[in-house]
Amino acid sequence: MKQDFADWRKAVQVDMEALLQSHLPPAELLPRTLHEAMQYAVLDGGKRVRPLLVFAAGEVFDAPRDAVERAACAVEMIHAYSLVHDDLPCMDDDDLRRGKPTVHKKYDEATALLVGDALQSQAFEVLAGGTLDASRKVAMLTRLAQASGSRGMCGGQAIDLASVGIALPRDQLEQMHRLKTGALLEASVMLGAMAGKSLLNDEAAALHAYSASIGLAFQVVDDILDTTADSATLGKTAGKDAASSKPTYVSMLGLNESLALAEKLRQDAHEALDIFGDRALRLGELADLIVQRTT
Ligand code: IPE
Ligand code: IPE
Ligand code: MG
Ligand code: MG
Ligand code: MG
Repeated sequence: MKQDFADWRKAVQVDMEALLQSHLPPAELLPRTLHEAMQYAVLDGGKRVRPLLVFAAGEVFDAPRDAVERAACAVEMIHAYSLVHDDLPCMDDDDLRRGKPTVHKKYDEATALLVGDALQSQAFEVLAGGTLDASRKVAMLTRLAQASGSRGMCGGQAIDLASVGIALPRDQLEQMHRLKTGALLEASVMLGAMAGKSLLNDEAAALHAYSASIGLAFQVVDDILDTTADSATLGKTAGKDAASSKPTYVSMLGLNESLALAEKLRQDAHEALDIFGDRALRLGELADLIVQRTT
């Protein structure tokens, strides 16, 4: 019988802690402050949703364990870097992340900048290692680079920062969310799949449809939780979007319509998985987690 979702999720989270530790430079290595701060940013916190997506997609396509683990560490390192930079005073100026002081508060801004830079490099180094054939690795490295760069996460962050105080039209808000958050979540699904058996065309299309739905849903729910949850639960400062005049789904559609949209995207994600049958059970459960989460 298939392992219970909660147990599977816990096991991946526990494994990820050890794997991330093993793929980060030791804190004792010089320059010590930088290496210690990298560990501070990555370890002991976070839901590990992107690694969970890599593992779940890898399972659908029988991907080898080492390749899945490397891809999972790489996406989580890119994500952790994006959070460190997102929290800087020049961006969202946040003091609290994953229930702890943000990296620039615990250390300083220059260290936070370098932690982000170094985690990004480390992510690509980890993904470049391992025993997959070189052409497949290049395809995966390219996918992660595209998702993180100016046509992905960084581009979305740029739109976010340029949109403070502006009520963006719906299509532009959607585009911002798809880039700043959706792109890396989509890449997480695709990297897990790319590490395994070749995808048929209709499988690739289905996986794209699934990942686009959960990618957008994730940020819609992030916007919702910013208004409905408290800081202690979130481990980050609640109510920050309205206080900073950020355009969000809640500010555009209101709470109820945003909740309805997230639910619609959850259903779309499940529909997209139909062609995989039971093989995609975990991906379906992750769509539920992404939309129904409380943190
Ligand atoms: C928060 O991401 C930032 C966004 C992209 C919305 P998560 O909600 O996945 O943060 P952690 O990793 O669990 O801390
Ligand atoms: C962050 O979006 C997206 C990235 C870090 C790329 P938010 O600014 O909404 O994330 P939180 O709410 O600070 O976690
Ligand atoms: Mg932000
Ligand atoms: Mg932020
Ligand atoms: Mg947010």
